[in-house]
Amino acid sequence: MGFSDSGINFCNRSISDDVWVRYLFFPGKNIMKNNFNKICNLFYNQFIAINGGLKLKMCSNRQLKVCVAGLGEVGLPTALYIKRKGFEVWGYDISNIAVQRAKKNGIKARNNLCEVPFADIYIICVSTGLKNKKPDMSPIYDVCNKIAEIGKPKLISIESTVVPGTCKKVYEIFEEKVHLVHVPHRYWSRDPIHYGVRQMRIIGGINNESLEMGLQFYEDELEIPLHVVSSIEIAELCKIAENAYRYVQIAFAEELKMICDELKLDFNEVRKACNTKWNIEILEARDGIKGHCLPKDIRYLVSLTNFNNLLRGAIIADQIFQEQLRKKKSNP
Ligand SMILES: NC(=O)c1ccc[n+]([C@@H]2O[C@H](COP(=O)([O-])OP(=O)(O)OC[C@H]3O[C@@H](n4cnc5c(N)ncnc54)[C@H](O)[C@@H]3O)[C@@H](O)[C@H]2O)c1
Repeated sequence: MGFSDSGINFCNRSISDDVWVRYLFFPGKNIMKNNFNKICNLFYNQFIAINGGLKLKMCSNRQLKVCVAGLGEVGLPTALYIKRKGFEVWGYDISNIAVQRAKKNGIKARNNLCEVPFADIYIICVSTGLKNKKPDMSPIYDVCNKIAEIGKPKLISIESTVVPGTCKKVYEIFEEKVHLVHVPHRYWSRDPIHYGVRQMRIIGGINNESLEMGLQFYEDELEIPLHVVSSIEIAELCKIAENAYRYVQIAFAEELKMICDELKLDFNEVRKACNTKWNIEILEARDGIKGHCLPKDIRYLVSLTNFNNLLRGAIIADQIFQEQLRKKKSNP
């Protein structure tokens, strides 16, 4: 069977009763990469990219054991969601408080990884932060070293926010003998119904087989919509770029508010008037950029290269804005 007008050959073969796989092969390997990605994205919930072709498959994996490492703001809802989907789920966290909270919510959890039965899939949701103003990925390496000591699982998914290059190092911890994907979280705790575990996310694999397995787990089993990117490093960069972009947008509003205050002009009026233009959307200037993720992730982006002037400027703008707010509060 073939699609004569597109030049794509199609074959269908049964692998087993519960696993069936269909391959779409391109006749040559010289297909333009961006066309290939376009096709992958178009059919992202039906086909996955593998070995220069497209593969369509279904497979039920719910008998697999899943361990979520890091049971905090993101990890616990993730574990609960995967459990609701019918998997046997275990949790691991170094914090006793996190373990107790998970248990209260119905997740079997331990603070010693050796007490958790070896799992087929490990989802890494541990905290990542800054140490001496530099990205600190040590919790990721710590938990991955511990997993590697007990075995090589079928799949590891890093959901924590990481700097580009982190997943490659994790791959090396497993001597490049594991399937590895990065599916960074976009969790927003204020509205987990719309922006929780099951929202559109980016996925990148360390290789095609990993991507295949990741898509099978996240899309087919967890029904999480995914946007596939061509490498794990792109997935890593996208996450911190998203948050840095948001940071810069807020910092712009804050700086414009300070300009307006100095000129004794009404910021809200300026903002609303500007926003009547079709491509402008100036945000509100509220109480400074709070929370954990935006301030951390813009600093991750700053740390990567010297192309960071705008980013550093945004950080300074927010610092000055918050300082002015504090002064106004103490001396109204
Ligand atoms: N919270 C959010 O809204 C959000 C959104 C998107 C991305 N993220 C990212 O997800 C990751 C987790 O964020 P969070 O908000 O859930 O953090 P959190 O602090 O709420 O939870 C992290 C958990 O990891 C545990 N942990 C830390 N080091 C560990 C280790 N070495 N071994 C085992 N457990 C360890 C901590 O005890 C904690 O319970 C971070 O990378 C964060 O940037 C968070």
